[in-house]
Amino acid sequence: MRNITDNLLYMTDLLFTPFRLGPLTLKNRSIRAAAFEGMCSGHLASDDLLNYHRSVAEGGIGMTTVAYAAVSQSGLSFNHQLWLRKEALAGLKSLTDAVHKAGAAAAIQIGHCGQMAKTAVSGECFSPSGRFNLYGPTWPRTMRKNDIRKVVIDFGRAVKLAREGGFDAVEVHAGHGYLISQFLSPYTNRRRDEYGGIFANRCRFMKEVISEVMSAAGSDIAVLVKMNLRDGFEGGMELDESIEVSKILEQAGVHALVLSGGFVSNAPMYVMRGRMPVRVMAHYMHEQWMKPFVRWFGNLLIKPEPYSEAYFIENARQIRKSVILPLVYVGGLVSKAAIEMVLGEGFEFVQIARALIHDPAFINKIKTGELTVSGCNHANYCIAVMYSGKMACYQNEKDRSAPWLKYLEG
Ligand SMILES: Cc1cc2nc3c(=O)[nH]c(=O)nc-3n(C[C@H](O)[C@H](O)[C@H](O)COP(=O)(O)O)c2cc1C
Repeated sequence: MRNITDNLLYMTDLLFTPFRLGPLTLKNRSIRAAAFEGMCSGHLASDDLLNYHRSVAEGGIGMTTVAYAAVSQSGLSFNHQLWLRKEALAGLKSLTDAVHKAGAAAAIQIGHCGQMAKTAVSGECFSPSGRFNLYGPTWPRTMRKNDIRKVVIDFGRAVKLAREGGFDAVEVHAGHGYLISQFLSPYTNRRRDEYGGIFANRCRFMKEVISEVMSAAGSDIAVLVKMNLRDGFEGGMELDESIEVSKILEQAGVHALVLSGGFVSNAPMYVMRGRMPVRVMAHYMHEQWMKPFVRWFGNLLIKPEPYSEAYFIENARQIRKSVILPLVYVGGLVSKAAIEMVLGEGFEFVQIARALIHDPAFINKIKTGELTVSGCNHANYCIAVMYSGKMACYQNEKDRSAPWLKYLEG
């Protein structure tokens, strides 16, 4: 029988023990979650992007994930966002070389944003079944069968490009109200053909994408899928269907599931919890006419959600009971105790975003005992500055910039 100290030691060992992820073995159980860095002027990887991921790798992470890379131009939702194409490979290869040299594995999140595309950069905007999207704001057109087939093929091509760019893993974005999630969700999928309606039909696009991804990945690229536990609003996908989604993905042979939740266009704060500093967000928005709108109505549109550490754990446990493939827990991990609790409950990996934006060396600091809790206070300014094209934590002196200090909200 272990006493409390032994138990803690045992669980700490879990975080810092190697673990298999498909064809890879990660040196420990920590993964830097995909969190949009900006830093991709011309939709290409910059030196700043490389330096940030190198610092996370040097900071002790098992694998770092480069955030959302669009599989095609029509999947772009921001300036400064990666677009996975031939022209991006040189920069990405330098990044993965630097990450490998620093002792970590490298993953890239691949996705398509569907109705959230910004036509100024994406050229077009489509979704499973039209419907006005306030987030854009856009009125996307309904996808035709040939659009569906093209995006499926684009996902496969993106995996091959990721391999050429030196990545060890891809993370398919099937959550947060991005295109795959728009097909899965009964709220955004009102199609009447074989891609809409009953649950099996709403899963069809995801299945086709994953089949293409798995065959492109072959035996040398690990495939993770980030999926929703719940969309986070009434009328969205709920846990009973997510459990079925996790079983389908397990059967499709993916190597791990990343369990998240929320829907950018309807329940954005369900992903991260807390509140959005809307005045800072408005300051950086590109569309001038949107600024006053966001400043005045932002708190109504982007509703705060209560934060508690490891806020997805209850829902994630239900998936743990239903599948045996490796699971990655993400959402509100800022302390060694919470990381240990999650791994102790049978989740194979943890993903961390905000604590690593605040301090890329968070994992090493846990290892050496310098820290047991991150200094990140999840005030979410890192999200509010996403339009600025750079990643910043207002708690860090070096990141503080005059334009937004005046908007700091109490
Ligand atoms: C600034 C920022 C940008 C993000 N961008 C992405 C993204 O591109 N793709 C994604 O799947 N999740 C994104 N997320 C969500 C994170 O991956 C993660 O699911 C969420 O922040 C909860 O983890 P945390 O509590 O460790 O921050 C972002 C989060 C932040 C803070």
